[in-house]
Parts: sequence; C-alpha cells; structure tokens
Amino acid sequence: MPTLSDDHQERIRHLLAMSPVMPVITIRRAEQALPLCQALVDGGIRVLEITLRTPEGLDAIRRLRAAMPDDVWVGAGTVVSRHQYRDAEQAGADFVVSPGSTNPLLDFAVTASIPLLPGISTVSELMVGYNLGYRAFKFFPAEVSGGMPALRAFAGPFPDVRFCPTGGVTRELADQYLALDNVVAVGGSWLTPDKLVEAGDWQGVRAHAAEALRTLGPGLRPGKEPE
Ligand code: 3PG
Repeated sequence: MPTLSDDHQERIRHLLAMSPVMPVITIRRAEQALPLCQALVDGGIRVLEITLRTPEGLDAIRRLRAAMPDDVWVGAGTVVSRHQYRDAEQAGADFVVSPGSTNPLLDFAVTASIPLLPGISTVSELMVGYNLGYRAFKFFPAEVSGGMPALRAFAGPFPDVRFCPTGGVTRELADQYLALDNVVAVGGSWLTPDKLVEAGDWQGVRAHAAEALRTLGPGLRPGKEPE
C-alpha cells in the first residue's frame, strides 16, 4: 500500500509554516479572482485556497498560478473526488485541500504529483490518514465538530498530529485556536468578507488581511512543527 512520501510531507509542512491563516476563497465572478487574491497577497498572505465550489474555481487557479510569484502557494479546496484532484493538478495547483477523507481520495493523493491536506472531523477519519503517514489535517467543520475541546482531546492519543481548523472559525476565535499546541494555522472565509468582495473593495481586503496577520502572530512556533 503506497503511503505518504517524504516529499509530500515536506511540502505540507512548508505550506503550514508559510502562514498562520489560510483564506478559503470562493470565486463567484471570474474577473474578481486576480484583484481579490492580489489584495490578499499585498496584505501579506502567502497561501490561497481556491475552492472548486463554483465553476470559476479551476480557471482562477490556472490564472493565479501564472500570475503569482513562486513564493505564493495556490491550492484547490473543496476537492471531494479523484476527478477534481486530477483537474487541480492539471490547473497547476500547488496543493489540494479536502473537506473530508475517503479511502479513494487518500489513496489517490499519496500517488499524486501535489500533496493533500485532508479534512477530518472524527478520530476514525484521522486514523485512516495517520496510517497512510499523514500528520497534518484540516479539522472541518471545526466549530460544530467539537471545536477547541475536540482538538485538545485529539492531542492525547495523537500528540504528533497538527491541525488547521476551519468551518465557523471567526477572526475572534482564531487567536484562541492558534494558542493550542496542535494548531498551526486556521482557515476560513472570514478573510474575504462578502461585503468587501461584493463591493470590489480590494483596499479593504488588503487592510483586513494585513491586520489579521499583524495581530494573530505566528501559528507555527518552535515545537509545533508537524512531524
Ligand atoms: C471550508 O471549506 O474550509 C469552509 O467552508 C470555511 O468555513 P467558514 O466559511 O465557516 O470559514
């Protein structure tokens, strides 16, 4: 049975070390993809998760990958099938995020050219990924799956696992999540408030991202690295 390669492990580690926040971005108007993501990058964000929830998502990944410098990572989010995984690879995504974990998706991911940050919400799902070599997961949907108490409880049997909680994580909760020893980043749509995006207020998006990064501080500090 193939397991997670050292290369994928290294890239997931790097991905989580790049930023304490991972914006979950859903592109509803194709023409907004570049200015919106440029505003986030100008605000200091280095990791962009573009969901495949809308038909605009894949094309946005393609265009962003061509437009952004190499030190900005463009990922595909809400990937739920091998077919979408392949599409994300072909579009040039640097990584893939899934909301949950299925055996077919995890089996495909370990042989793919780009790494997966798999979503889990239960210990059993975590164990499936763990046995393939995964030591970092998206915890989704975080707030309704037990939130911070669940993450504290996961640390007992899995002290070597690190998480990026998303789903109901607000700016206000982000600090508290990041204070947990096993949380290295937090994700969510709160970095791209609908009001600012609908108004095309890219200055506002930039300022919001910069403020989040300034006040949240580092997610990955010594001793928190995923193994
Ligand atoms: C995700 O895919 O990570 C979530 O939809 C983000 O959840 P949020 O909108 O509650 O931040």
